[in-house]
Amino acid sequence: MAAIVTKNLTKTYGELKAVDALNLEVAEGEIFGLLGPNGAGKTTTISMLCTILAPTKGTALVNGHDIIREQSGVRSSIGIVFQEPSADDLLTGRENLEMHAELYAVPRAERKISNDEVLRIVELTSRANDQVKTYSGGMRRRLELGRGLLHTPRVLLLDEPTLGLDPQGREHIWKYITRIAREKRITVVITTHYMEEADMLCDRVGIMDHGKIVVLDTPANLKRKVGGDVVKVRAAGINEKQLRSHACVRSIAKKEGWYYVTVHDVTRNLPCVVKGMRDIKEIELHTVTLNDVFMKYTGRELREEPAEGDYNERMMQDYANHPNP
Ligand SMILES: Nc1ncnc2c1ncn2[C@@H]1O[C@H](COP(=O)(O)OP(=O)(O)OP(=O)(O)O)[C@@H](O)[C@H]1O
Ligand SMILES: [Mg+2]
Repeated sequence: MAAIVTKNLTKTYGELKAVDALNLEVAEGEIFGLLGPNGAGKTTTISMLCTILAPTKGTALVNGHDIIREQSGVRSSIGIVFQEPSADDLLTGRENLEMHAELYAVPRAERKISNDEVLRIVELTSRANDQVKTYSGGMRRRLELGRGLLHTPRVLLLDEPTLGLDPQGREHIWKYITRIAREKRITVVITTHYMEEADMLCDRVGIMDHGKIVVLDTPANLKRKVGGDVVKVRAAGINEKQLRSHACVRSIAKKEGWYYVTVHDVTRNLPCVVKGMRDIKEIELHTVTLNDVFMKYTGRELREEPAEGDYNERMMQDYANHPNP
């Protein structure tokens, strides 16, 4: 049985289709990612799946329970981490867990064990008796993740679980999510607008834009769809015939003094590209990312405003301006 099935799941606000006839199937034990920019409809989807928002049309089954007709069945099957922080600052980590266990009616005899186990999984045992206001951003997120696990849900819904964390904090959270999914065999649906997160963490990723899934596959297959990595070279000249004779070379274009060679698996095939160039002055490599996939299918960047001076972002801008044959 699939852990989640959505059937034409739709939410409209007046003219705006926040979620537009979504048909999705998430397998049991899978880590599934919804990747998309601001306003794509990720939170709206999660809110309907966890029953706090009623669909305008369509429905979904979560762990076999209908989100409209069997809300309590859905709620007891899921754990959720909301996009907005939701742990109580004035309580300790352990008190937050105790309150949640009470709300979810976890049997009293089991509470101590499950609290201790959750604290172990998210590595907060040593800080359990400190007030949450003394935690770092990453520790708060870990506590919320642990809280979502307390009543041993079959499905964990995580809405932007690493929003605002630094790269190290993000990697920590990824480690816990992977551990939870594998150790407890829990299905995880995670929304994110971080392409690295979707790429590193998820078994499959649905790229979402304007309420629709534009493409869905494993991260590796998604990247394969773009056609290859890009080698950007400024050289005196190229031997185009020789380059094109290599099966790894997908296309060659020239723009403003730079050659753009699209290559399958550049880390292995760079030597044969370089051999076809004369007198190389500068060379830059751009390994294909899920942002490129997003761009291919929507014509836009995942993040509209690149961070200033960010090398990869500038590289992608160049790549975006250059027509991909
Ligand atoms: N209560 C509401 N009333 C009107 N429009 C809404 C409401 N909630 C969401 N929307 C709109 O629905 C669309 C999808 O919003 P949603 O919060 O699902 O996006 P998101 O993908 O989670 O974005 P983000 O990455 O910013 O969290 C947006 O255009 C948003 O403005
Ligand atoms: Mg959101």
